[in-house]
Amino acid sequence: GYIHRFKGLYHIEEAVANKLKIKKVMVVPGFYDEDPLVLREIGRITAIYLKTLLKEDTVIGITGGQTMAMIADEMKNEEVALSNATVIPARGGLGKNVEKQANTIAAKMAKKLKGSYKLLHMPDNISKELLKSLSEDPNIKEVVDYIQKIGILVFGMGRADKMAMRRRLNEEMMTNLKRQGAVAEAFGYYFNKDGEIIQEVNTVGVSLNHYKELQHIIGAAAGIEKAEAVIAISRLNKHLTLVIDEGLATEILK
Ligand code: G3H
Repeated sequence: GYIHRFKGLYHIEEAVANKLKIKKVMVVPGFYDEDPLVLREIGRITAIYLKTLLKEDTVIGITGGQTMAMIADEMKNEEVALSNATVIPARGGLGKNVEKQANTIAAKMAKKLKGSYKLLHMPDNISKELLKSLSEDPNIKEVVDYIQKIGILVFGMGRADKMAMRRRLNEEMMTNLKRQGAVAEAFGYYFNKDGEIIQEVNTVGVSLNHYKELQHIIGAAAGIEKAEAVIAISRLNKHLTLVIDEGLATEILK
């Protein structure tokens, strides 16, 4: 099986898991920074691993970004419904282009699993007031209630500065993040190197407290620039399973 394919990387996987004090690390051979195709392999391995965790009626939460998009892309089409899974976006309105939105990824993954999906329609960059009224909308409420049932969360991780740029935060907000030492971003939260929260995007979905309680969490990332971010995020919940490329693994161990 896939677990035995990369025997040579076993020691590096163990070293990263020990350094980060997390449950499990899967390392895909190669350096994403030299070969972007490595991201496909991360997607493929994550999709296979995710399927091994499915139980009857599992609710899978997924975030956005190119890494998550690759998991849905690389997932194989099931002939028959797998475990009656439901796939939902873990958080709404995080500002990504359509192919990389959690909604799109959730729907694609659900189709491949022959399961079902729910979409979360939330605008980006909304005020606290608007968030409050939107949260009372029955359609949004239904999905938010579903989010509480997430059994497996699959999520991407990014550098705080890159994600702030992607979300077009203004100059002042960017300077603020930097001044407060934000290095990482995941599911709409910005963290410092100790995994302490610096800032949060106004939206609904998996909260940080909810994340800390989850038992099955899979984080996937590629590229050496994400090392600091992955280290910070690993502090949040020790049940984390990481799927990363060899380049990023090596950088984490430096
Ligand atoms: O929060 C971080 C992003 O979801 C990572 O996005 O997979 O496009 O690098 P990416």
